Amino acid sequence: MTDRELIQAAEEASKNAYAPYSGFAVGAALECTDGTVFTGCSVETAVYGCALCAEQAAVAEAVGGGKRSFRRIAIVSPSGKEYSMPCGSCRQMLSEFSPEMEVLAVRGDGRYVSYALDELLFHSYNRDNLQR
Ligand code: THU
Repeated sequence: MTDRELIQAAEEASKNAYAPYSGFAVGAALECTDGTVFTGCSVETAVYGCALCAEQAAVAEAVGGGKRSFRRIAIVSPSGKEYSMPCGSCRQMLSEFSPEMEVLAVRGDGRYVSYALDELLFHSYNRDNLQR
């Protein structure tokens, strides 16, 4: 799948976002190393702190589908003037499974930038840090 196709899948997913409070709909498309793609959208609630990011929704779909190894993720907010970077929690969630995966952060106009996740979450906290 091309970058552009993955971005289109993220744009499509963003159409289902539930964002009545921020008005900022987000969609994500997560490509596994076996080529399968899972999507997710942001979900908000009246308790503002209780919201689900699109990336984490996509990870939950993938893990629920038996996949734990990811190659790329595209993240987009169609109304976004800036590149849709993954928040800190999403970086941690993605890093749990694939710390070196590629992140495509997309703007509403379709332009995008690409990063390795370990650039965005340098010296991550991981299972090794739990050793006693
Ligand atoms: N959001 C995401 O879906 N992913 C992120 O990485 C950051 C933020 C959503 C959550 C909330 O619904 C809206 O964007 C504004 O923060």
